[in-house]
Amino acid sequence: MTTVIETQALTKIFGQKKIAVNDLYLSVPKNSIYGFLGPNGAGKTTTIKMLLGLIKPSAGTIKIFDQPMRMDSVALRKRVGYLPTHPTYPDKMTPIKYLDFIGKIFGIPREKRIPRISELVRSTDLLGLSSSEIRKFSTGETTRLGIATCLMNNPDLLMMDEPTTGLDPIGRASAISLITELGKDPSKTIFISSHILADIERFCTHVGIVSNGKLIFNGTISEVKKLTNANSIILELEGDMHMFTQFLQTMPNILKHETSPGIVRVYLRDITYYKETVLQLFQFIADNPYQLISFKSGSENLEDAFLQLLEEEKSDGFLRGIARAL
Ligand SMILES: Nc1ncnc2c1ncn2[C@@H]1O[C@H](COP(=O)(O)OP(=O)(O)OP(=O)(O)O)[C@@H](O)[C@H]1O
Ligand SMILES: [Mg+2]
Repeated sequence: MTTVIETQALTKIFGQKKIAVNDLYLSVPKNSIYGFLGPNGAGKTTTIKMLLGLIKPSAGTIKIFDQPMRMDSVALRKRVGYLPTHPTYPDKMTPIKYLDFIGKIFGIPREKRIPRISELVRSTDLLGLSSSEIRKFSTGETTRLGIATCLMNNPDLLMMDEPTTGLDPIGRASAISLITELGKDPSKTIFISSHILADIERFCTHVGIVSNGKLIFNGTISEVKKLTNANSIILELEGDMHMFTQFLQTMPNILKHETSPGIVRVYLRDITYYKETVLQLFQFIADNPYQLISFKSGSENLEDAFLQLLEEEKSDGFLRGIARAL
């Protein structure tokens, strides 16, 4: 598989004490929409700026399209589009003038610039605003302009730092459908940082989860779900809970369990035996005076999955979790 972004041992230490990015090995496949997920302060923006050659790593290497990215990699940077978290624009310009100005910076000749601008204004739904001053734009409209701006040079790689931040549900939906549309172009790879898991779940093909500057997961969306969905089971029961937990202790594939009134969450030791374990649990429930109210397999969505991964990372059990699941 061809990779578009490849980092090895990428590290950034600010002021000799703040480790913002810690020994990061990233591998972003071509044509993917890669979601770079992590809570505030995890190191997402710092990583993106290093990938763009805007700040210098303290250690490690970066390859973009198989070429080393450095602060002086001007030609390489021209193949990358960048949407910062809070882009600023010259207030008095109209989107058309601004995009024209960006096109000139990229050295795009006029005969290519004009059709490109009109295509982008249309695809980002800014046609009705093409002669309004940018300072009058709403947050959502500004984001759409940001997306148009980072596409001006027709980049093969798009880096978007929290493109859905600050948008209302309609603004988010519109940004998401734009990004999803872009992702369909087989020549493009999109790298998006976010802490909005619901968005990532909707359009990303791959995901990297970063916490405290460290990558704690890297894989496809379905791998995250597999990892977190299958390693625990939640049962809502009526009946003798004491007898039930005693039974759990006799099951070799149950690592631990947590109980709250009427609810038992069991964690599996080895998910290879998921089906067998569920069958044993059901058999016990059927053979004894229990009423099964509900049954859920682990995390229901990526939000839970993400929080669970962060929790496990904190308790240093993450690597064991991966070994069990994959
Ligand atoms: N120039 C800097 N000098 C010192 N520390 C910095 C600098 N830039 C970032 N940091 C610190 O590095 C850590 C990572 O910051 P970064 O902006 O990369 O996080 P982030 O994941 O993008 O967070 P957010 O979701 O809030 O945007 C934070 O603790 C931040 O305070
Ligand atoms: Mg950030």
